[in-house]
Amino acid sequence: MANGKTKLELTWIGKDNRPKLEPRILVEDTAKSHHAPFRTGKNDIFDNRLIFGDNLLALKALEQEFAGKIKCIYIDPPYNTGSAFTHYDDGIEHSLWLSLMRDRLELLRRLLIKDGSLWITIDDNECHYLKVLCDEIFGRNNFVANVVWQKRIQPDMRATIGAGHDHILVFSKDLSAFKSNIKLLEQTDEQSNRYKNPDNDPRGPWVSADFMAKGYRPNQMYEIVTPSVKKYVPRPGSCWRNVEPVYKQLVEEARIWFGKDGSSVPRKKTYLSEIEGMAAWSWWPNADVGHNQEAKKESNALFGVENAFETPKPERLIRRIIYLSTNPGDLVLDSFAGSGTTGAVAHKMGRRWIMVELGEHCHTHIIPRLKKVIDGEDKGGITEAVGWKAGGGFRYYRLGPSLLQKDEFGNWVISKEYNPAMLAEAMCKLEGFTYAPSDTAYWRHGHSTETDFIYVTTQTLTREQLQKLSDEVGESRSLLIMCGAFRVKNLDEFPNLTVKKIPKAVLNRCEWGKDDYSLEIQNLPMKAPEEDIVAGAPATGKKPRSKAERRASVQQPSLFDLPAGKGGAK
Ligand SMILES: C[S@@+](CC[C@H](N)C(=O)[O-])C[C@H]1O[C@@H](n2cnc3c(N)ncnc32)[C@H](O)[C@@H]1O
Repeated sequence: MANGKTKLELTWIGKDNRPKLEPRILVEDTAKSHHAPFRTGKNDIFDNRLIFGDNLLALKALEQEFAGKIKCIYIDPPYNTGSAFTHYDDGIEHSLWLSLMRDRLELLRRLLIKDGSLWITIDDNECHYLKVLCDEIFGRNNFVANVVWQKRIQPDMRATIGAGHDHILVFSKDLSAFKSNIKLLEQTDEQSNRYKNPDNDPRGPWVSADFMAKGYRPNQMYEIVTPSVKKYVPRPGSCWRNVEPVYKQLVEEARIWFGKDGSSVPRKKTYLSEIEGMAAWSWWPNADVGHNQEAKKESNALFGVENAFETPKPERLIRRIIYLSTNPGDLVLDSFAGSGTTGAVAHKMGRRWIMVELGEHCHTHIIPRLKKVIDGEDKGGITEAVGWKAGGGFRYYRLGPSLLQKDEFGNWVISKEYNPAMLAEAMCKLEGFTYAPSDTAYWRHGHSTETDFIYVTTQTLTREQLQKLSDEVGESRSLLIMCGAFRVKNLDEFPNLTVKKIPKAVLNRCEWGKDDYSLEIQNLPMKAPEEDIVAGAPATGKKPRSKAERRASVQQPSLFDLPAGKGGAK
């Protein structure tokens, strides 16, 4: 290929730019955390987490502790529709949206356990691009389904062809592991009512299916004689479902139906009492899982009409997702939490949860909502259906500040907001150690293995201090020392110690001091230089004033319109 690319991929402007994220620490604000005053049983869950902040930094902050541990991730990101909502800015350039989603999806995939799955609600605006993006990140072979959720109850009269559905893209970390654990759905009354018992079978109501199957298998081509002595052979191009001995056994157990007069083509019975459940399929009607209006009503009931959240999802929808993909006690994550539906539903279903939300509604909506759930004051949504009463709790965290900040001379120094414990925790994260300060040994702030430890100090260490540390660590263990400075020429004297200076040792690891990687429009980069301006957009030389004007001037073309190598799909 001319540009050297050999694989099929979706490309877009800025695809190659990747942020070098700082793994922040999470700082609990206990005044905003909440838990029930009593344990109600042994299954109460208190260690749920609500994180206030940008989800890219939050996911990076969670990575070390939760990589490979999350069973179900549900996200409902801004759909990139360009309409302005009160609670968040939903309009963003197409390419930028893809980049921002890519960075988050890569982290989300790392957090999933082997049989875990990701469920994303999205509309037609970005769905098909997002599918290709997820194929690239998860592998096409790990695509599970594109579920069609009937979100409306009637057509939108203003639209040409109104969207009655959203998509739910489902990807697994490992399809075969996910398949072996996905749950069956309970039969609906409508499905159960199809089972009848015309022959008073003592095993109860049943339905029947053709005993013929497509294809030719020589040992499934025998003749069947009905009770009324009518003879049948398989139709051309078909064979019987089972070999003859199995058929005979089924007849003996009265599991074959030949019609009321015993002369029809044989059919195999399936009993209602033996059905374990129904496999889910990709059509989710609103009668089964709710719709937008139901979600709005739930939001009105929780927050009042004046303060209702604008784009909530119905609790029944999230219940279906969590039910299919998890067991009680499993971890559920939503990094675009909105009004907190996922956490509320997961809590009521006895799952552990983590939510991330950047908007102020984290405080005005999510905290009050989850408090109501915990205190048994939320009687709406799925409460009654799952028999939820009360209990458990959550911890509220903010992202810690950036570890490094520039001093008045432009040098990177440790932020004044960091106390020694925060510094030790941050260094553990950066160096890949588990933060676990010891009560007995001052130099043990964390460990990477049973014999490898880390010690963090801003002090300048002398030769004597290093000698003492080396003696205490001993020959069978090793210690990484992150310190302000050290006064020793030859560190080879201490083979069990590795000594690094902070901040120098970590300076190039990531971007420092960057707080906002959010999807909000004000974080768009400056308009591209001349050569990036797309053909067709007139260059007036004037600066665009309004958001709409600016959008029009840097018109985002279809990705397929771009010349190869300039962001066009190959
Ligand atoms: C469609 S809403 C989710 C609604 C949610 N499913 C519910 O039922 O309430 C999307 C949410 O993502 C949040 N969001 C957008 N960008 C974010 C970011 N970078 N970090 C964290 N949250 C973000 C928005 O503030 C908004 O609340």
